Amino acid sequence: MKLFIYHTPELTPTDHLPDCAIAIDVLRATTTISTALDAGAEAIQVFSDMEKLMQVSEQWLPEKRLRAGERGGAMVAGCDLGNSPLDCTPERVRGRRLFISTTNGTRALQRVQDAPVVLAAALVNRKAVVEYILAQQPETIWLVGSGWEGSYSLEDTVCAGAIAHSLHTHLNCPLEELVGNDEVVGAISLYAQWKDQLLAMFHQASHGKRLLRLGVVEDLKYCAQTDTLDVLPIQKEPGVLIKNY
Ligand code: MLT
Repeated sequence: MKLFIYHTPELTPTDHLPDCAIAIDVLRATTTISTALDAGAEAIQVFSDMEKLMQVSEQWLPEKRLRAGERGGAMVAGCDLGNSPLDCTPERVRGRRLFISTTNGTRALQRVQDAPVVLAAALVNRKAVVEYILAQQPETIWLVGSGWEGSYSLEDTVCAGAIAHSLHTHLNCPLEELVGNDEVVGAISLYAQWKDQLLAMFHQASHGKRLLRLGVVEDLKYCAQTDTLDVLPIQKEPGVLIKNY
């Protein structure tokens, strides 16, 4: 098994794909996606383009759909939800399809959507992701941080490090057997530095600061939890994720 970490979708190779691609947007898209599926959403359909989201979701009965849109951290006008995982309660999402477009997270998922296996990971479902990888043993794995408009995001790389660290611990092999690029070594060190202060790490991160300016303190606390949701969002067709059973 070889693990590669890319800090942003733009840094992924364009001439090949891995056996398994894992998109990460801790703040907050992949945390929201995991939470919505855990709360009983029928599926999550991701879009980079808001107009396309509106067109496609229009074909669904209003009681069977929810439209979630975020730009710059704020909710997009005309949507039912923004991108807060705390809004994804069972009462709200159960049995519905969540149509979602966010600034970076949904773009990251779309970037890797042609890989044979596509997962969404955050800190909240780290354990479920690691267990799937250990069971399936894909030969090559990409962990792709969503970043922010092409730039590095601290929290996504820390989450990638949390996954890499856990895989290394369970596989109990020399680190060099697992490491596909230098970013993996860097991410594991970063996770080791912040693992006991994940909320404090968000306060240092540029997107964490952006969300704090928007007043969503509770979202940060929620997203900083590790291994709290036993849910694995897995792509069943391009752009559509369901809960893996
Ligand atoms: C994104 O896709 O950039 C994020 O999920 C933004 C957010 O926190 O809503």
